[in-house]
Amino acid sequence: MEDLGSNPAPDDPIGSVIGRRLARRTALRGLFGAAAAGVLPATLPARARAGAGAQPEGASTLGFRGLPHSNSPDSVVPEGYEIQTLMRWGDPVLPGAPAFDPANQTAEAQALQFGYNNDYLDFFPLPKGSRGGEHGLLVVNHEYTNPELMFPGLGDAKAARTRATAAQVRTQIMAHGASVVEIRRQDGRWAPVAGGEMNRRITAETPMRISGPAAGHERLRTKDDPTGTRVLGTLNNCAGGNTPWGTVLIAEENFNYYFGGDAVATGAQAAAYKRYGLVRDPQFPWLRHEARFDVGNEPNEPNEPNRFGWVVEFDPYDPNSQPVKRTALGRFKHEGCTHAVAPDGRVVIYMGDDERFDYVYKFVTARPWNREDPAANRDLLDDGTLMVARFHDDGTLDWLPLVHGEGPLTEANGFRSQGDVVIETRRAADLLGATPMDRPEDVETNPVNGRVYVMLTNNTSRRPDRLDATNPRPSNAHGHALEIIPPGNRDHAARTARWEVFLMAGQPGTSAGAAYHRAVGPDSGWLSCPDNCAFDSKGRIWIATDGAPHAAKVADGLYAADTDGEGRALTRRFYAAPQGAEVCGPLIGPGDRTVFLAIQHPGEDAESTFENPSTRWPDFQPGMPPRPSVIAIVKKDGGVVGI
Ligand code: FEO
Ligand code: CA
Ligand code: CA
Ligand code: CA
Repeated sequence: MEDLGSNPAPDDPIGSVIGRRLARRTALRGLFGAAAAGVLPATLPARARAGAGAQPEGASTLGFRGLPHSNSPDSVVPEGYEIQTLMRWGDPVLPGAPAFDPANQTAEAQALQFGYNNDYLDFFPLPKGSRGGEHGLLVVNHEYTNPELMFPGLGDAKAARTRATAAQVRTQIMAHGASVVEIRRQDGRWAPVAGGEMNRRITAETPMRISGPAAGHERLRTKDDPTGTRVLGTLNNCAGGNTPWGTVLIAEENFNYYFGGDAVATGAQAAAYKRYGLVRDPQFPWLRHEARFDVGNEPNEPNEPNRFGWVVEFDPYDPNSQPVKRTALGRFKHEGCTHAVAPDGRVVIYMGDDERFDYVYKFVTARPWNREDPAANRDLLDDGTLMVARFHDDGTLDWLPLVHGEGPLTEANGFRSQGDVVIETRRAADLLGATPMDRPEDVETNPVNGRVYVMLTNNTSRRPDRLDATNPRPSNAHGHALEIIPPGNRDHAARTARWEVFLMAGQPGTSAGAAYHRAVGPDSGWLSCPDNCAFDSKGRIWIATDGAPHAAKVADGLYAADTDGEGRALTRRFYAAPQGAEVCGPLIGPGDRTVFLAIQHPGEDAESTFENPSTRWPDFQPGMPPRPSVIAIVKKDGGVVGI
C-alpha cells in the first residue's frame, strides 16, 4: 500500500551536505557527461560505475533464462521451472475449518482458515533442530485485507472499505495476523500436512503480552487493559524475521490505517498521532463497528494506537505460546526485522521504517544469546540499545543510540523514560538527526559476505533541494538499494559502518534509470520498486518488487543477482506476478531447491471487484475471486534453483 509520508520537514541532518554534494555532482558530470542526470553516488565502486548500462548475461553466475517484462492475468516462471500453489486464502489451517465458500464467508470460518494478503514467509524445520530436510513449519504474515475482492456486492476498493458490514469487519479481523502451517515435499510436490498439530492462526484479536520499556506505561493503558501489558491482536504484519533461538518476529507496519475518530486531530496526543500518520477517517474504517479503533468515542481509547507499531515475537513450535510485543525494538511502521550475530554473541536486529523520509534502525541486545539454554533467551529482546542510522556522504555512517537521558532525549523534550522514547521512536530519531530515506522496506543480512542490504522502494516526494548521497535522485519513482558494511564485515554491534550503493532501479537508458542500474540490455532484467529480499546459500540476492505496475508499467516480480564478482547487481527476472499483485516474502527453501513466494493482493486494480476482478488467479474458476496465495517454485528436475 502507498505510504503518504508523515515526516514533513526533517532538517538536513548533516549540515552542509548539500554544498558538498553539489561540488561532487559537478565533478561527476565531468566524469560521466550529461547522461548522469541524477547524482552518481561517490560510493559506487569503480567497476560498477564503468559498468552502468547493458551487460553480457555471461557475467552472472545465474543459470536460468531471464523473463522478459510482461503484464498478464497469470504468473510466469522461466523454462525448466514449475509453480506449485501451496496455501490460498481460505484454505484450512485448523481442525474443523469449513470448505472455503467466498460467497458466504464468516468470521468463524476465517479464524480457522488461511488469512488474507500473505506477506512475510519463514520456514522452521521439523523435527526441531534438524537441517536441510523438506519438512517443516511455514510461517506466514497476513498484512491487510481487500474487502472489494473478499465479499460480494461491495463495489470497488474505496466503497467496499466503508460499506463492509459489522460481520464483514469481523471476518477481516480474523483474516489479519499470521498462520503457521506444517508443510512437506513428497514426490517433488510441496503440500500442507493434513492435521498439522502445530498449525496455528494468529489474528487481530489473539491475546498478546506487552514487554520491554513501554510495558505498563500510562500511554499503553486502556479501559480493557488498565495494566498496559495485555493487548488483543496484531495489525498490518508486513515482513518479519527470526532469532537464533528459533522464534519468529512479525512486524506491525501501517497500524495507522485502522484507528480514527475526531480526537485524532484534537486530543492530547494529536501531534504524536500525526507523526505516525493517523487521520480522522482511516483507510479501514473499522471504528464504525468496533469501538476500540475509535480514539475519540466515549469510553474513549486514546491509547489503543500506542499498542500497535511494534515487533511481535512468538514460538512457532508451540501453538499455545503467547505472542509478545517487544517494545525495546521501537515503535514505527516496521517493514521487517532481520537478525545478525555480532562476534561476541550479541544479537543485532536490523529494521526499516517504511515511510517516505523515515529511517533505518537496528537494535543490539545487551547480552549474548545462549546456545545451550533456550530459556535464557526468552526475554533477550527486552534489554538492549535501539539505534538509528545517520548516513554521511563520504560513505560512512553512524548508528545513533536512542537512549533516554542522552542528548536531546530528556524531559525537556517530553521524554521522561525509555518508555516515552520507544513509544515516540520517530520523534526521538528526528531529534537525533537521523537520515531521512526513500522508504526503507526490507533490511536483510547477506550470510555469505556479511553486508546488510537496504531496500529503498521509492520516494516521488523527494525534491532536488533535499538530496543527499544515500538518496541521490529527485522524484525517485523506482527506488534503489544500499549495502551497509559493518567493520570487518561482521561487527554488527558497532556504532559505525560504511555504505555503498548496490543498485539504482529503473530502466537503463531512460531518464528514470539514468542514475545507475546494471542490467542485461535496456529491455530485460531491470527492476523497479525493490521491497523485500532474501539470500540463497551462495549469497546471491533475490529481490521482490512492489509498485512496478505504477512506476514502470510492468508486472511486479522476483529478480536474482550476484552480490560479488562480475555479476554483481546484474539483475535477472525470475518470476512475473499476476495482474494487480505484488511479490512478498521471498524465501529460499531447504537446500536451495525451492523459492517460496507470497503473492499478495492479486487483482488489486482500479475498478476491480469481487464480481469482476482483473484476474481470478490462481484458481481461474468462474465466480471464484482472486486469492492471495503462497507458491513454491521448483525446478522440474528437482535441482538447485537459480543455477
Ligand atoms: Fe507492507 Fe512496506 O510493505
Ligand atoms: Ca504489502
Ligand atoms: Ca513490503
Ligand atoms: Ca511495499
